[in-house]
Amino acid sequence: MSEAFEPGVVLAARDIVKTYGATRALKGVNFEIHRGKVTTLFGENGAGKSTLMKILSGVTTPTSGEIVLDGTPVTFASTVDARDRGVSIIHQELSLAPNMSVRDNIFLGREIRTATGVDYAEETRQAAALMRELEEDIDPATPVEELRLGQQQIVEIARALSVNARILIMDEPTSALSASEVEVLFKVIRDLTSRGVSIVYISHHLEEALQITDYAVVLRDGAMTATADRSAIDLEWIVRHMVGEHYDRGSPPTGYAFGDVALSVSGASVEDKNKGVLLVDNLSLDVRAGEIVCIYGLMGAGRTELLESIAGRVPLVGGDVRLLNRSLNGLSIAQRIDRGLVLVPEDRQRDGLVQTMSVGENLTLASIASFVRNLLTQPGKEKSIVQDSIRDVHIKTAGGKAAIGSLSGGNQQKVVIGKMLATGPKVILLDEPSRGIDIGAKAEVFRLLAEKASQGLAVVYSTSEVQECLSVAHRIIVMSKGRITAEFGPDVSKEDIMAASGEAVVH
Ligand SMILES: Nc1ncnc2c1ncn2[C@@H]1O[C@H](COP(=O)(O)OP(=O)(O)OP(=O)(O)O)[C@@H](O)[C@H]1O
Ligand SMILES: [Mg+2]
Repeated sequence: MSEAFEPGVVLAARDIVKTYGATRALKGVNFEIHRGKVTTLFGENGAGKSTLMKILSGVTTPTSGEIVLDGTPVTFASTVDARDRGVSIIHQELSLAPNMSVRDNIFLGREIRTATGVDYAEETRQAAALMRELEEDIDPATPVEELRLGQQQIVEIARALSVNARILIMDEPTSALSASEVEVLFKVIRDLTSRGVSIVYISHHLEEALQITDYAVVLRDGAMTATADRSAIDLEWIVRHMVGEHYDRGSPPTGYAFGDVALSVSGASVEDKNKGVLLVDNLSLDVRAGEIVCIYGLMGAGRTELLESIAGRVPLVGGDVRLLNRSLNGLSIAQRIDRGLVLVPEDRQRDGLVQTMSVGENLTLASIASFVRNLLTQPGKEKSIVQDSIRDVHIKTAGGKAAIGSLSGGNQQKVVIGKMLATGPKVILLDEPSRGIDIGAKAEVFRLLAEKASQGLAVVYSTSEVQECLSVAHRIIVMSKGRITAEFGPDVSKEDIMAASGEAVVH
């Protein structure tokens, strides 16, 4: 017998267990979704958040346990089945077809038909209306691959909205969104809840998520550790229940002198060919061995373009990049990696991982030619590198042989960081390294970078979370419109950094 139906609860998970081989992803979870409210699910990487949501949206079935919809036990045969009953999900990993248009992605598998075929005009009209609602200036005819990551995430959101679901699950919907895009999304969420739509929200941006939360639920190691009303909790409550201890934000490593200039960028410019504007505008920057530099800026400030041009992914239209006083001009990405310059890219799903390979293969093999040559002459080295990486970067996995797809989203990201560190670089660039990574793992990644810096690695990372610049960076550089607008030491205030970025300071 199922438990009595509670009036406010639309969908409930009862004693859900999910096992993958020896992994117990969920160990008997009870979870409730309230009508017209936002239920936020917090938890570390690998805690089981996505797994629970996949079960509630028909992506996968539980090993045991029950799903109760409107008081009646149900089984979802598929995502289509769940969608037909009003449950829709925005996935953590984008699931768009890159070469198809925004419109075709939104209506994929649910085309609007007339007697004679697909009603493209109506689809275009509805897609345009959704873009307007999300305040995003995107033509529905644009191929998705031409959009930046954040815009792709907006399309993913639009697709979920187009279903008119009663229950909408959002698994990390804002990881690539700008602050203003997040604001629009929150407006849309409030509008949906006022019309009775129930939302489940998952995010590692804890402060941001708190703004939209009605009920908070914390998962830890596949079990529910806490649940509370918004009015009863704060950030500290979440962190305590997530990690079970107080966590340390980190501090810049000290006790050593910086070495020579490892990376020197002078007068670098990157152009947006379509618009004919400079995304990076005559920018110069020196980073010494052992130094950690944080680049803070809003979405569109040019951080990604700067880092990608240094790494050789996008061409410079002017200027020079030097590594250990040798010019890198004209060198390919692989040649730069060979010389000791690596980039952990913004879109790690697309650019950083080979989905058909194992965790170990991703950590060692992917595209790093000289590294592979070295491995071939040192049998046994590969295995130890994989083990060291898994340990150093704290990757939660069954082992090096596990499929990359079996890792939780955040742990897949850690593989990319581990892979780049394993090449033994002189300079590492990380574009938003903390995206999708839980608060404990963030601290671990920064601690690891600090340790490598104290051994001589030059580190440059970008972030759009001010607080993250105030962790381990010796120097904080603020970018706006392709230029450096300010430079600070580690003792700067949050407000000063934000003001230099052109951001309104919220008190
Ligand atoms: N298809 C799968 N095969 C094997 N193991 C899996 C699979 N999917 C998930 N797991 C395991 O289940 C556990 C929970 O993963 P899940 O993706 O639910 O975590 P999460 O809380 O969403 O983490 P994140 O914050 O990193 O997204 C992890 O240990 C993960 O490795
Ligand atoms: Mg997840």
